[in-house]
Amino acid sequence: MAVRTLVVACALFLGMCIVTNGVPTDTPHAFCKIVWLFGVPCEQVSMAIVTQMKAMGSYKLGPVTAALIQANHTSAVGQIESVNFTIISTAMSTGCHVEGSSVSAFWFSLFDNGTNYCNLHNVIQGSGLTKAPGFVEFTNEWLCLGVGLSACK
Ligand SMILES: *[C@@H]1O[C@H](CO)[C@@H](O)[C@H](O)[C@H]1NC(C)=O
Ligand SMILES: *[C@@H]1O[C@H](CO)[C@@H](O)[C@H](O)[C@H]1NC(C)=O
Ligand SMILES: *[C@@H]1O[C@H](CO)[C@@H](O)[C@H](O)[C@H]1NC(C)=O
Repeated sequence: MAVRTLVVACALFLGMCIVTNGVPTDTPHAFCKIVWLFGVPCEQVSMAIVTQMKAMGSYKLGPVTAALIQANHTSAVGQIESVNFTIISTAMSTGCHVEGSSVSAFWFSLFDNGTNYCNLHNVIQGSGLTKAPGFVEFTNEWLCLGVGLSACK
C-alpha cells in the first residue's frame, strides 16, 4: 500500500523521483528543493522567473539557458545561496514542470529558518506564476529543510 502510494505520488509530480535522488545527503549544507507545475508554456514561465529575479535586487543571475536558470542569492544576513531553476517541458505543450533548488554556501546556515525555501518560493510568488492555471507547488521537510519554519518576507 505504501509503495503504491509512493509510485502514484511520483507519477503525479512528474520527476519527484529525480528530485529526491538529487538530495545532497552527504553535505551538511542547508538546501531546499521544490517542484512546480504550471499550465502555461515553459518559455512564458522562464521569462517570468528571469524578469522577477532581475527585479529583486538580492539575486545575481548567472548563466540562463532554456533548460536551466542559475543565480546566486544574497540574504539579509549576508550569506550566499546558490539557486537553480530547471525547466522541463511536459508532454503537453501547454504545460511546464520546474524544479527549484537552493543550497546555502556555509555549514552554519543549516537551520536557516527556511531561507532556502523562501529564495525559491518568493521568486515564483513575486512573478505572479502562483496564479497561472494548473499551478501546483510541492515540497516537504525531507526535500526542503526548514519549510515548516519558514516565514517568507
Ligand atoms: C555564485 O557564486 C560563486 C562564488 O562566488 C561563483 O563561483 C558562481 O559562479 C556564482 N554562480 C552564479 C550563477 O552566478
Ligand atoms: C545548479 O546547477 C549547476 C550546474 O548543473 C550545479 O553545478 C549546481 O550545483 C546547481 N546548484 C544548485 C543549488 O542546485
Ligand atoms: C532564525 O529565527 C530566529 C528566531 O526568529 C532568529 O533568532 C535567528 O537569528 C534566525 N536565524 C537565521 C539564520 O536567520
